[in-house]
Order: sequence, then structure tokens, then C-alpha cells
Amino acid sequence: MTDRPRRLRRTAALREALAETRLHPAQLIQPHFVVEGDGRSPVDSMPGVERMGLAPLVERVGNDLQLGLASVLLFGVTEDKDEKASSATDPDGLVPRAVRALRDAYGDRVVIMTDVCLCGSMSHGHCGVLHEGEVLNDDSLPLLSAMALAHARAGADVVAPSDMMDQRVAAIRDRLDEVGCTDTAILSYSSKFASAFYGPFRDAADSAPGAGDRKTYQLDPRNRREALLESVLDENEGADMLMVKPALSYLDVIADIADETSLPLAAYNVSGEYSMVKAAAAKGWVDEATIVPEILGSMARAGADVIISYHAREALEHGWLT
Ligand code: PBG
Repeated sequence: MTDRPRRLRRTAALREALAETRLHPAQLIQPHFVVEGDGRSPVDSMPGVERMGLAPLVERVGNDLQLGLASVLLFGVTEDKDEKASSATDPDGLVPRAVRALRDAYGDRVVIMTDVCLCGSMSHGHCGVLHEGEVLNDDSLPLLSAMALAHARAGADVVAPSDMMDQRVAAIRDRLDEVGCTDTAILSYSSKFASAFYGPFRDAADSAPGAGDRKTYQLDPRNRREALLESVLDENEGADMLMVKPALSYLDVIADIADETSLPLAAYNVSGEYSMVKAAAAKGWVDEATIVPEILGSMARAGADVIISYHAREALEHGWLT
């Protein structure tokens, strides 16, 4: 009867000394919904999250830098939609202007990542070019590449394609290199599932498909081996970083990919995961101060190097991670 693992859990100081994983503020990435103008408006389905125009965005990111939160992921939210995603590929579009404003204000102290996807600027809300009800893979690649290039030229450190078209990482890498943007990194949303956990985001970003769903391009939630394959393919195409999205229901996938790759791996703690916590906490059913570090910590424990989360700022503001 000598097994007594509880010895090492006896005091808070002992537990702290022996913790196997820890989160540092530098590992967190805060998403932002960017809109035209200088206003801000709350996202009803995501308490605590706002859509922001450029001035409030710059101010918010400045405050976040004080907290040690230096990485942002930008989403453009626009009413300017058509069949060719023209607003997304515009070199002076919303996101390129936001990138320039942040770079002008904070230089290289901020890590600027941008979401690259057509859904927010297509009139039909799909992530690629739609023809007779079908999302066309190869026809979407030039538009995605043009969008990534607009962000890269504006000064983004990292472009992050989230569309799930095949071979988009290779297409974007080629286009960037062709014009000398060889230093712009690609964070591929490499293993992205067709998930109900994106519900609140589609409200925030006004990007829900008008008809149909995303199951012909996003991964089937039942598939673990296929998820690994998708990430391996993107690594081979030249991705600099990989991602699993959503995170909480896919910790097995995070662990698989972390085992297989030497690239940095991101976990995306998505909108539905965030809003479920917010809703339950508002009712007093869960304690945010302890559930948020447990959730984010589980992603690090599974093998994620960085975590994209709407909780990032509040977790640091309230000291939930320490
Ligand atoms: C765009 C995109 C989505 C998310 C990130 N980029 C939505 C989708 O694929 O429908 C979801 C993010 C979140 O839920 O927090 N394709």
C-alpha cells in the first residue's frame, strides 16, 4: 500500500511546481471582427464580443498589448457582397486597411494574422465560387490567392486560409512568392470540421451560406484519420503552421497532429464553445474563472502550441490563467 499520488497535490505551491502544462499570454490569439466606420456594436450571440471599426480596433489592440496579448486574427465583416467576392480581393479593402492601421500604430509589437475566406464577401455565403449549386474548387483558388496577397501586401505577418478548398495552401504560397512576399507565413486551417459550433460566428460575421451547408468542403466530424491526412497534405503544400478547428470536441485530433508534425499547431476555441460558456456562466451554472483555464489548458495539454480564443483578453484581464 505505498501508492500515494496525493502527496504531490497537498499544497497549492506543490501543485504549481509540478504542473505539466502552463499557458503563457504570448500563446493566445485574439480574434477581431472588423467593420467599416469608426463605430462598435455588440455581437448578441457572443456576450463580450464586439464588431469594431478601425479606430476602436486600434485602441483595443493597444490595450491588449499591455496585457501581453500581442497576436490578433482579423475577420472582415462587410455588406459589400457579390458573386466574385470583389470586396475580399480589393487591395484597399477593409482588412488591408485594418492591417495597415495596426502596423502603423504598433509596428512589429503586434502579430497580425488575417482570415482568408470568401464566405463573408460572397452574396451566397459559401467559402468558394458557386456554380449551379456546387462550390468549385479550382475556380476559387485565384480569388483566395488574391485575397491573401492583398493582406500580405498590407503587412500581415500571417495569412490564414479557412475555406477548405483543396490545394489552396500551395496556390497561395505560389502567388505570394511570385510577387516577392516570401516572408508572409501561412497558418492553414488545415483540419477544419463542418461544425455546429460555428453558429454564433456566422451571426457575428454575417457569413452563413444562403442555401446548403459546408459539408462538401469542411471535414466530417466523425473522421479522425482524414483530419490527420488534411493537415499532412497542407504541411506538404508549404503551410508554416497547422490548425485544428473547433478545438474542444477535437482534442484527439490535436493530439494526433501534434504527434505527426514538427510545425507549430494552433487550436481554434470557436464561437460556439465560447458562447456556451458565456450562457452557462450567466445563469450561474459554471464558474468562468475556473472553467476558462480548464478549457484553454486542455488544448495546450493535447498538444496545441497557440490558441485562438474569444476568451483571450478576459482571461488575461482577470488573471484566470495564473
Ligand atoms: C470562415 C470562418 C468560419 C470560422 C472562421 N472562419 C465560419 C465557417 O466556416 O462557417 C468560424 C469561427 C468561429 O466559430 O469562431 N470560413
